[in-house]
Amino acid sequence: MEDATAQSHIRLLRDLRAVRHFLPDPIPADVIDDISEIARWTGSAKNLQPWDLVIVQERATLDQLADLEGYVRHLAGAPLGIVLVFDNDNPEFAAYDEGRMAERIMLAAAAHGLGSCIGWWSGPGRDTARTIVGAPDDRIVRTVISIGYPDEAAHRARPKPAEVRKPIASFVYHERFGSGT
Ligand SMILES: Cc1cc2nc3c(=O)[nH]c(=O)nc-3n(C[C@H](O)[C@H](O)[C@H](O)COP(=O)(O)O)c2cc1C
Repeated sequence: MEDATAQSHIRLLRDLRAVRHFLPDPIPADVIDDISEIARWTGSAKNLQPWDLVIVQERATLDQLADLEGYVRHLAGAPLGIVLVFDNDNPEFAAYDEGRMAERIMLAAAAHGLGSCIGWWSGPGRDTARTIVGAPDDRIVRTVISIGYPDEAAHRARPKPAEVRKPIASFVYHERFGSGT
């Protein structure tokens, strides 16, 4: 791979941050198709693919989902929410696979210049969210990804990545834990 291509891939991965303020512009259908295709290729434990996704663009539904218990207020300003519906037969698999799926969706969105943020419903918010999107009772509905074109003003006001992550030397070791880089 050419160095410039590698660097642009690395930048996409490294610069992924949570975006919670969006422009109202709708997301083109082909972009949603791309995100769905990337989601489809997410790896999962034993390749069980224990997921369904509900793509929500109706304003009234997004607002209803944003009002539920949890940390999902950013959904109220997003033109698109992708609700992750997971089998919960093996909660350890589900939690891990769900994290991978969420990250892939966010990266696919970022490749199209979109911002995104994970939102978690808590307590009864999960059951109500499941009912609102019409998912079966035996599924877990815990996570939504808010997606939209970033409101640049809100984006610029955020701290720089270097200020919000631990330095490499404080958590990456060679050969033995605590050995330094
Ligand atoms: C498992 C998980 C759950 C999260 N839940 C929420 C949430 O409910 N609401 C929210 O606004 N952000 C949520 N986030 C986003 C984190 O707050 C965010 O990734 C973290 O603060 C780092 O932000 P940055 O990537 O912009 O630096 C969640 C992230 C993860 C990985």
